[in-house]
Amino acid sequence: MGYLVVMEDPGMGSGGQERSDPGMGSGGQERSDPGMGSGGQERELGAMASRKLRHIDACLHGPVQYETVTTGFERYRLPYNALTQTNLSTVDLSTGFLGAPLRAPVLIGAMTGGAELSRTINRNLAEAAQKLGIGMMLGSQRIMLDDEVAAASFDVRDLAPDVLLVGNIGLAQLSESAIPKIAAAMDRIGADALAVHTNPLQEAMQANGDTDFSGSLDRLRRLAGALPYPILVKEVGHGIGAAAAERLRDLPIAAVDVAGAGGTSWARVEQLVRYGEVRYPAVAEWGVPTAQALTEVRATLPGMPLVASGGIRTGVDAATALALGADVVALARPLLAPAIESPAAALDALHGFIEELRVCLHGCGADDLPALKRLDLTRLG
Ligand SMILES: Cc1cc2nc3c(=O)[nH]c(=O)nc-3n(C[C@H](O)[C@H](O)[C@H](O)COP(=O)(O)O)c2cc1C
Repeated sequence: MGYLVVMEDPGMGSGGQERSDPGMGSGGQERSDPGMGSGGQERELGAMASRKLRHIDACLHGPVQYETVTTGFERYRLPYNALTQTNLSTVDLSTGFLGAPLRAPVLIGAMTGGAELSRTINRNLAEAAQKLGIGMMLGSQRIMLDDEVAAASFDVRDLAPDVLLVGNIGLAQLSESAIPKIAAAMDRIGADALAVHTNPLQEAMQANGDTDFSGSLDRLRRLAGALPYPILVKEVGHGIGAAAAERLRDLPIAAVDVAGAGGTSWARVEQLVRYGEVRYPAVAEWGVPTAQALTEVRATLPGMPLVASGGIRTGVDAATALALGADVVALARPLLAPAIESPAAALDALHGFIEELRVCLHGCGADDLPALKRLDLTRLG
């Protein structure tokens, strides 16, 4: 399969200069142009939409999966029980999350919005979520804060009236002045909750990324206090571990999605989009592996509703994460190609995943999620 990514700034590849630039991603050019009028704003929106498409292209065709880091779930064994007393057809996967009922402990991971293709992806996933009774996280709504046309790509409520729908915004882009716009964007799409993603490594790899995270925790605290929506804090695949969880301890937030390492590496995605290659593999392979992130956050924030994501690929991964303390799991990139194909393909992929999870509970002798959580996992090595 061809790798089609069009490089964002192909000129950067020439010479050793950029290679040795310690401020990779310390641009800000697009956003900081003080004289930018409406033409400039349009250009910025256009650049954002085409970056979304390059991300999708890289995620479909590029080597974006961690190569040396795994989630760590493979170090645990679910206790298989040959004398299970459960009936597969009545194993109950239902649960609740952020006040909403779910027929299975699964969320569609945050992915996209802004481009026409994003609308197809979101709507096909929303249709599947409604049929399966699971939740859905949308991609970053930053692009719709200033653009009505982009907003249409997030419209899924007509197809998914009953789904737990989670909006999305970046921590780096949070500002006092953005709060009313974020509230309006949430109202417009009919979201139930807002995910705030914190992604310093991704932004540092991105050309013109937002690399100033100073004061972001205070801004998050103010947003969480000001918005009438539950706030979920997530990473994008490099993991929220003990140190980050400690900083979330007293914040008025409703949930954490650890989004750990071992699945899609956004430092890889951004390098591929920027340079056409993974030029800095060491940072591309950096992060808190998902199983470690999950156990650390669970230990630091014992009562916090938790999403396990980042490299969740099978029902076995999901069952292991749930037994380790997650309340729900989320998966993103594996759903991208099916979501582009059709609503039926998206439904098929998610249905297979959920049925595999159901088989895991059956094989463990657990007839519902509380029973799964009571099991002891074997830790290998
Ligand atoms: C195409 C694509 C776009 C994404 N866009 C967003 C986004 O806008 N906001 C966000 O919080 N996470 C975004 N993510 C990150 C995912 O939500 C997830 O945290 C990460 O990909 C790791 O999960 P995975 O290994 O299942 O892909 C995106 C992921 C993909 C594949």
